[in-house]
Amino acid sequence: MRGIFVTGTDTGVGKTVVTAALAAALRAEGLQAGVWKPVQSGAPLGRGETDAERLLQAAGIGERPEAVAPFTFAAPLTPMLAARQEGVTLTLDAIVAAGAPLADRYEALLVEGAGGVAVPLTEEALVADLIAQLALPTLIVARSGLGTINHTLLTAALLRSRGVPVAGVILNDSGPTDPQEDPSVATNAELIERYGGLKVLGRFPRVRDIANTEALVQAVCEHIDLTAVKEALAFPDKWI
Ligand SMILES: Nc1ncnc2c1ncn2[C@@H]1O[C@H](COP(=O)(O)OP(=O)(O)OP(=O)(O)O)[C@@H](O)[C@H]1O
Ligand SMILES: [Mg+2]
Repeated sequence: MRGIFVTGTDTGVGKTVVTAALAAALRAEGLQAGVWKPVQSGAPLGRGETDAERLLQAAGIGERPEAVAPFTFAAPLTPMLAARQEGVTLTLDAIVAAGAPLADRYEALLVEGAGGVAVPLTEEALVADLIAQLALPTLIVARSGLGTINHTLLTAALLRSRGVPVAGVILNDSGPTDPQEDPSVATNAELIERYGGLKVLGRFPRVRDIANTEALVQAVCEHIDLTAVKEALAFPDKWI
């Protein structure tokens, strides 16, 4: 499978916004990029509220949400528990198999995880174990403000413990505080690179309308090192 797994330092850090933006920017350059949300919980399909529906809309991809999110559970719980409430026992093999048809239809997939890397996905496995099984490089979406060094380095450490390469970090201006009023924003990228041995691919700005595909593409073009993303997609063997 050719793609990148987009994980985050927490739930709500902006994985869906950034994943949709990257997919839209790659598509604007002519790459047939698709999106995959292997497991999602918190809302049923059909009302446009789930990540799969938001990804498709924001990235401008015409695809059935059921195909992008084969495992959707309504309960606002960690996927393993949300699935169990609906009588489903998730396994890594079933999750990976459900993504194969998507991988066949697109040149590359941007895969959005659930929550962060230490989120329980099945009875035995965390999201990090799914990433390891998929053998994809990762991007970490992190908040741009205070606290992000700790969260980003912990996320990278868990991924590395599973042998998963980190292609880069994207800092997202999604936090509760105004980045203008947080002095840590100016130095976080440099310190994450130094202490984490990681590459920060840019700071994704606050976008007024996160459903506007063109605004997302513009934000990527102006603020994110898309070449590094393409390199991770182009040479998957380098990571495995
Ligand atoms: N760059 C941004 N500009 C404007 N709003 C943003 C941005 N990033 C995130 N947000 C806001 O934060 C919310 C959470 O972002 P998002 O849904 O992308 O997080 P997530 O990491 O995908 O969460 P989950 O763990 O539920 O998948 C968005 O609905 C949006 O309101
Ligand atoms: Mg999301």
